[in-house]
Amino acid sequence: MIKSIADLPIEGKRVFLRVDLNVPLTPACGVADDSRIRACLPTIEHAIKHGARVVLASHLGRPKGPQPALSLEPVGARLAELLGREVLLTDEAVGDGARKVVADLRDGDVALLENLRFFPGEESNDESFAKQLASYADVYVNDAFGTAHRAHASTVGMIAYVSPSARGAGFLMKREIEFLGRLLGEPERLGRPYLAVIGGAKVADKIAVLENLLGRVNAFLIGGAMANTFLKAKGANVGKSRVEEDKLALARAFLKKAEDRGVEVLLPVDVVVASGLDAASGQIVRADAMPADSMALDIGPESSAGFADRIARAKTVFWNGPMGVFEKKPFAAGTLAVAKAVAACRGLTVVGGGDSVAAVNEAGIADQISHISTGGGASLEFIEGKKLPGIAALEVNE
Ligand code: 3PG
Repeated sequence: MIKSIADLPIEGKRVFLRVDLNVPLTPACGVADDSRIRACLPTIEHAIKHGARVVLASHLGRPKGPQPALSLEPVGARLAELLGREVLLTDEAVGDGARKVVADLRDGDVALLENLRFFPGEESNDESFAKQLASYADVYVNDAFGTAHRAHASTVGMIAYVSPSARGAGFLMKREIEFLGRLLGEPERLGRPYLAVIGGAKVADKIAVLENLLGRVNAFLIGGAMANTFLKAKGANVGKSRVEEDKLALARAFLKKAEDRGVEVLLPVDVVVASGLDAASGQIVRADAMPADSMALDIGPESSAGFADRIARAKTVFWNGPMGVFEKKPFAAGTLAVAKAVAACRGLTVVGGGDSVAAVNEAGIADQISHISTGGGASLEFIEGKKLPGIAALEVNE
């Protein structure tokens, strides 16, 4: 079992709280999107309210050694604003400065360790680095679902040095496990029809998700550049659209397996094509007869309407990946139509993956989705059916 922070005695204790504050930054190193900071507020606020001495830890970006542009300072400042209280940033994740800040914490105080990845021992799960982190922890709580697929010192290694009775998950981690777990639940208990709406660039990135959902969903709705590979596998003329030639056989094999199991695979029937990504506008054509000199950059209106109709009637929907190049206005309509349809669906709706989450935010309908995962790679690996190391490490036998 995995305990919740709500079940752990934390008053007066140093609570090491691993959070995922890996947020997008502006060119001037400000916080471009604070969704991940907001997502872990309930856990931090719970710890403060219950008199813990809170030691927050996160990575930011992929630095190789200390890199001032990837300091957690702006993130700490935003967090302080949201909490309405001081957040003390240490000069380094471990060392004399950090030790002193942690030692001086009083009940209800909050410290944030500087970017864990400034030390290579974080990603290599170095034992000595893990022990130093654990020296700040009477209690260990992981709320960093977005990093749960990484076996690093702060997500796995240090836990061995914390008593099993003092380990647990934060509210965000619990919520992610619950909602994503429901998508993988017993087939007979899932609300039906159950649809997986999958988009994005590559079949290679999503094939394990498709395979793991094959025994559960009633239909797949496939868009984005990955749809081109499936269309070509079925004999369509896709012009100069992006296609993974080396995945055509895989796509064909998947379509056959789905057919054998009676699972529908809906591909776009029309697409928006243009000569290239920088085109000012697109042209709507049939998906099986794209002009030789153009590429598909979005699903067309007939496909959007068809997908939206299916989504509206579904009882369970998992959506991952955009339907087109939605960051470019002429090719955003398909993705935004899917976002609105998922919002309008009355069943269980779960959205995962950075791009589809950005589309949901852009469409202004985030509050109408049952659950928006904060995980990119982590939510995909979870749906692939993998055991995530950061979750497995929280399991205790009591
Ligand atoms: C993410 O943004 O997916 C997580 O924070 C993990 O980051 P990483 O891919 O750099 O490990």
